[in-house]
Amino acid sequence: MKAGSGVSELSDHDQTRLRVLAGLAFSPGAPVDSKKLFAGRVDEMRRAIRGITARGRHLMMYGQRGVGKTSLATIFKELFDEVPGMRFFKINCTSDDGFDDIWRRAFREIPAIVECKGEDDRLDGKSAIEYRLEQLISDSPLCPGDIRRVIQNECQDDFELVLIFDEFDRLAEHERALFADTIKDLSDNSVKITIVLVGVARDVVELIDEHESIKRPLVQISLPPMARDELGEIIDRATNALRMTIEKNARDLIVFLSQGFPHYTHLLGQESALAAIDCRRRNIRLEDVEAGIQSALEESQESEKTEYHKAIQSQRKNTLYGSVLLACAMAPSDERGFFASADVREPMSRITGRDYDIPAFSKHLKDFTEDADRGPVLEKTGKEKMIRFRFRNPMLRPYVILKGLAKERIDGNLIDRIGLEKMLNQRDELLLFPEMNQQG
Ligand SMILES: Nc1ncnc2c1ncn2[C@@H]1O[C@H](COP(=O)(O)OP(=O)(O)O)[C@@H](O)[C@H]1O
Ligand SMILES: [Mg+2]
Repeated sequence: MKAGSGVSELSDHDQTRLRVLAGLAFSPGAPVDSKKLFAGRVDEMRRAIRGITARGRHLMMYGQRGVGKTSLATIFKELFDEVPGMRFFKINCTSDDGFDDIWRRAFREIPAIVECKGEDDRLDGKSAIEYRLEQLISDSPLCPGDIRRVIQNECQDDFELVLIFDEFDRLAEHERALFADTIKDLSDNSVKITIVLVGVARDVVELIDEHESIKRPLVQISLPPMARDELGEIIDRATNALRMTIEKNARDLIVFLSQGFPHYTHLLGQESALAAIDCRRRNIRLEDVEAGIQSALEESQESEKTEYHKAIQSQRKNTLYGSVLLACAMAPSDERGFFASADVREPMSRITGRDYDIPAFSKHLKDFTEDADRGPVLEKTGKEKMIRFRFRNPMLRPYVILKGLAKERIDGNLIDRIGLEKMLNQRDELLLFPEMNQQG
C-alpha cells in the first residue's frame, strides 16, 4: 500500500487511536443509540414527537428491514430527555410470543408496578412483581381491558409512559389484532401512555388488519429507504467525529453503493476509513473505498452472502448468472423497485463489454424468479410483454453491486464504464421502493 502524503502522516500513536475511534464512529452492526450518530429522518422525527406528545394517540412505524426503524425508536428517549416524567421502555417481540407474554414482560419493566406498593411477606417464592401481577390480574391470559386497568391503577400520575414494541411483525396475526383493541381502549379512556408499534411491513394493513378501527388514534409513520443527503450525513458525522476528511468522489460512491440502506453506509464508511488509516492518512480517497469494498464484503451479513451464492450457483463454469444478477442490480427501476428485461440489456453490455440481447439472458431471469434453488432471488409482476422483476430482499441489491465491483479496479475508468457518474447525477428516484415515501 502507498504511504500518505508526507505532511499530515499519522504517527503510530494517532493511527492506533483513530482505529479505535473508527470502530465507534460507525455502527454497521447495531442500531444507532445516540443523536450524535443519528442522521436525517427529520420529518419522521417531527411526526413521531407530535404523536408521542398528543394525548390519546399512538404510533406505528413501519418499513423494510434495515431502513432504520429500531434506530429511530431508540433515540426517542434522548429526544425527550429534558422532559421530566417521560419514561421509555422497549420490548422486543419474538415469534413465540403472544399478547399475554409480551404485556407481562412489559409490566415487569415498568418501575411503578415493580416497586410494589406496600410490603408483602407472602410472596410464595415468586418475585414481587409476579406476585403483584397475580393480585392485579387474577384470570390469565391477559386481555386488552386488563392492560388499561393495570396502567390506570398502577402507574403514578406524575409520569407518562411510552412503550415501544419492536419487531411487532413477528407476532401472529391474531396476537397483533389484540394490540389494535388495546390501543382503542387506551385511547377511548385517555390513558396516559403511548404505544409505539415498530415492524417490517409495506403498509399498516400488513401489521394490523383491522386498522380502520384505530385510524384516528394511530399515527402512521412509514420509513422509506434513506435519501442520498441523509446517507451523506452519516458519513459526515462520523468523519467529523474522527477529524478525518473524505474526497467527494469517494463519498458519492459510498452513498450510491448504499442504495438507501444505512447499514452499507456505515459498513463501507468504516472500512474505507480504516483503509485510509492503514495508509497513515486522515483523508479518505477513492482507492480506500475500493479497499473498503473488499473488507465490507467479508464483514457482510451471512444472510446476504448465502442468498447471493444460491442465486448464481452453477455446475458449469463461466455461466452468465453472476453478470445477469449484477445487471439486474444496476438496471434502472421504477419507483417500486421493478425493472423490465429491456432495462437489463444496457447494464449487461456495460458489465461484460459485449452486446447481449434479451433472449441471451431471459432464461436466467426466469430461473432467478422461478427456481427455488436460486431463492428465488427475484419476484415478478405483470403478464407477457408487461413482465417486471425486482429483488425479493432489497438489501441484496447493494450486496450484488459490491460483489460485482469487488473484482474491478475502481478508478475514473470503471466509474465511466459502469455509468456511475450518470447514476450519481440522477436523483433519489433510483432508490428502491420509494412508494414507502407515501405516508399511509
Ligand atoms: N438515522 C440513522 N442515522 C445513522 N445510522 C442509521 C440511521 N438509521 C439506521 N442506521 C443504521 O442502519 C443500520 C440498520 O438500522 P436499524 O435501526 O437496525 O434498522 P431496522 O430496525 O429498520 O432493521 C444500523 O447499522 C444503524 O446503525
Ligand atoms: Mg429493527
